[in-house]
Amino acid sequence: MAKTKSFTCSACGAAFSKWSGRCDACGEWNTIVQETPLSSGPASKSLGARRGASIELSNLSTTETPPPRTLSGMDELDRVLGGGLVPASAILVGGDPGIGKSTLLLQAAANFAKVGLKTLYISGEEAAAQIRMRAQRLGLADAPVKLATETNLRDILTTLEAERPALAIIDSIQTMWADNVESAPGSVSQVRAAAHELTSFAKRRGVSVILVGHVTKEGQIAGPRVVEHMVDTVLYFEGERGHQFRILRAVKNRFGPADEIGVFEMTGRGLAEVSNPSALFLSERGTPSPGSVVFAGIEGTRPLLVELQALVAPTPHAQPRRSVIGWDGGRLAMILAVLEARCGIPFAGLDVYLNVAGGLKITEPAADLAVAAALLSAREDVALPAETVIFGEISLSGALRPAPQTENRLKEAQKLGFTAAIAPVNSTAGGKTVTNAGMTLTRASDLTGFVGEHFGAG
Ligand code: TYD
Ligand code: MG
Repeated sequence: MAKTKSFTCSACGAAFSKWSGRCDACGEWNTIVQETPLSSGPASKSLGARRGASIELSNLSTTETPPPRTLSGMDELDRVLGGGLVPASAILVGGDPGIGKSTLLLQAAANFAKVGLKTLYISGEEAAAQIRMRAQRLGLADAPVKLATETNLRDILTTLEAERPALAIIDSIQTMWADNVESAPGSVSQVRAAAHELTSFAKRRGVSVILVGHVTKEGQIAGPRVVEHMVDTVLYFEGERGHQFRILRAVKNRFGPADEIGVFEMTGRGLAEVSNPSALFLSERGTPSPGSVVFAGIEGTRPLLVELQALVAPTPHAQPRRSVIGWDGGRLAMILAVLEARCGIPFAGLDVYLNVAGGLKITEPAADLAVAAALLSAREDVALPAETVIFGEISLSGALRPAPQTENRLKEAQKLGFTAAIAPVNSTAGGKTVTNAGMTLTRASDLTGFVGEHFGAG
C-alpha cells in the first residue's frame, strides 16, 4: 500500500510523506506542515481499471461575442481588471493586513451594486456592525449590497446557490472553513479546498467571485501557490505604511494585461482614486538636489513619472552597505558593477542607498539609466537640471538600449512641465533633437558617453 502523504509545503503546496526542514520542491525553509490528506486528493487507484466517457471536442472558431464586462465606475479598478468585471471570473486580491483590502472591496461592492449587479459581501473577519459602520463612514450605507458574516463554506455555497448573485466577495479566503476537510481554517488544505470550491462554483453558476487573501511576510499570498493558479486574475494591493498611496497591481490576468496598476490614496473617507499619479508621486519633490532624478516609467499601459533618490557616502565599515527600497537589489549591484568596470567609477568604500519616492515598486529595466544617473549625481555631488527626465536600459557591456514606448514617456513628461529628456534611441547619431512632443531629447548611446557628457568624468 502506498504511504499516505500527510505533510504539505505551505509555500508551494508540494506533498511529502515525512517532515523536513526544507521543502525539496521549492527550497523554502520551515514551510512544511502536517495535514490530514484531502478526501478528494490524488486518486490512489489506477485509472486504467474502468473506461471513462468520451469527451466532446469543439473548434477554436466562435460566433459568440466576448462577455459583456461590467464597469464599476472606479476607473482605477476597472483598468486593472482589464476593462471591467468579467462574468463568472474568479479574482484573488492579496495584500498585507491593514493595507486596505476590505475598504477597497467594500467600495467596489457598493459601486458594482449601484450599477445593477447583485452583489454579496461575505466577511469571515469582521462583525456585521463593524462593516456597517465602515460603510456609513465611506458614505455607502445606502448601496444595495447584501452583507453576511460567515465562515462555513457549505452554508456560504448554499446561500450563493439560492441567492444567485452576479458578484460574491469573500473576505478572506484564510478564514473560510470547509467541514469536509479535517484541518484548521487558514491551513493549506482548508485554503486550497475553499478556493477550489468557490472558483468552481463561479464557473458552474456564472457568478463572479472576489477572494481576499492575506500575504505572508515574504509578500506572497498565504497558502499554497495553487490558489493563484486556480483563479483567473491575481491582484496585489500594496503600499508603504506611513504613505497614503496604495497601488493595485495585476500580476496575473486571463482577461487583460498583467502589470497594469491602479493608484489610490487612503483618506479619512476611504480610498480615493488618483487619476494623475505622476503629479502625486512628484508632489513631494523639492528643488533639484544631488542624487535626485526623475524617471519616466511605464506601468502597464500608463506612463508614470517617479523620483529616484540616491545617497552615496563613505562607509565606516569593511563591507559597504547596499540598501534599496522600491527596486531590485540585484539590479542595483549590476549597475554599480557596470559603472565600475566600463566607466572606471568605483563604489568600493562607499555606502549606497537607493529609494523610489512615494513607496512605489519599480520593476522595469528602463529604470537602469535613471538609477545610474542618481548614483552618479549623488557620488559627484552634481544636481541634474530640474526639468529633465531620464530612462533607458543598461546592458552589461555598458551599451544603452532604448526603452519601449519612448513617445508615451516623453508626452507624459511634457504634460507635467518637463522640458528635456535623456534617453537612448534607435539611432546611432548622438546629440540633441526636439521631439514631436516639444521636448529636447538628448540621445545617449553608451554609458561612458553619458557619464562624460553629464558628469564630466568617465
Ligand atoms: P482595511 O480595509 O481594514 O485593511 P485590510 O482589510 O487590508 O486588513 O483597512 C484598514 C486601514 O485603513 C486602517 O488602518 C484604517 C484605514 N482606513 C482609513 O484610513 N480610512 C478609511 O476610511 C477606512 C475605512 C480605513
Ligand atoms: Mg480586512
